[in-house]
Amino acid sequence: MINLGVLVSGNGTNLQAIIDAMERGILDSKIGVVISNNPGAFAIERARRQNIPTEIVSNKTFTEKEDYDRRLVGILKDHSVDLVILAGFMRIITHVLINAFPMRIMNIHPALLPAFSGLNVQKKALEYGVKFSGATVHFVDEGIDTGPVIIQAVVPVYDDDTEETLAARILREEHRIYPQAIKLFAEGRLEVKGRRVTIKDSHRTEGSMANPEVTIFK
Ligand code: GAR
Repeated sequence: MINLGVLVSGNGTNLQAIIDAMERGILDSKIGVVISNNPGAFAIERARRQNIPTEIVSNKTFTEKEDYDRRLVGILKDHSVDLVILAGFMRIITHVLINAFPMRIMNIHPALLPAFSGLNVQKKALEYGVKFSGATVHFVDEGIDTGPVIIQAVVPVYDDDTEETLAARILREEHRIYPQAIKLFAEGRLEVKGRRVTIKDSHRTEGSMANPEVTIFK
């Protein structure tokens, strides 16, 4: 069974979705440790409720980003973590962490990468005027939101959307695709070839979507 180390900064709904999938028996993994840079993160409370070991590594403890990441690597190794899960972890990680877990760090991002990387992505999507956005799970490399894509989910953007309504629609999809991506990894079904992640025996999505709906052809 693979052992996850989950890095969080905030509410922890993605962490919760992973816990729920494990409890339902649809994801065969365990969480060895949850680490937060933010002592007030509700995600930490979610972990404690499950008796998952937690660690707080404050942003203020280290002046160098690399030293911060060395501390993370130490904790992750102490807990024999196989796969690192960034679940709303609002720090840019360095080569120290990436080299310690090559292609064994996943991140979830609330947009269809490579569109709208970085922060405030719902605002960027609304301002750009795209008709679809979504969520992306990807392996982490040294760029910001640039690593090989594992799975994406698409949601429509509506005329009356606000950042909040769009974020909520995307978050529901995040909670589906993150456990799925971890399951694919746990089953040894992900293969990284350059930028492309191929997935053994995947169920391909059929059909297409347009937003707004195409009404002139029936
Ligand atoms: C999620 O929407 C996640 O995609 C995003 O933060 C939120 C965390 O929510 N992550 C990023 O923007 C990373 N750059 P959660 O704490 O409820 O899982």
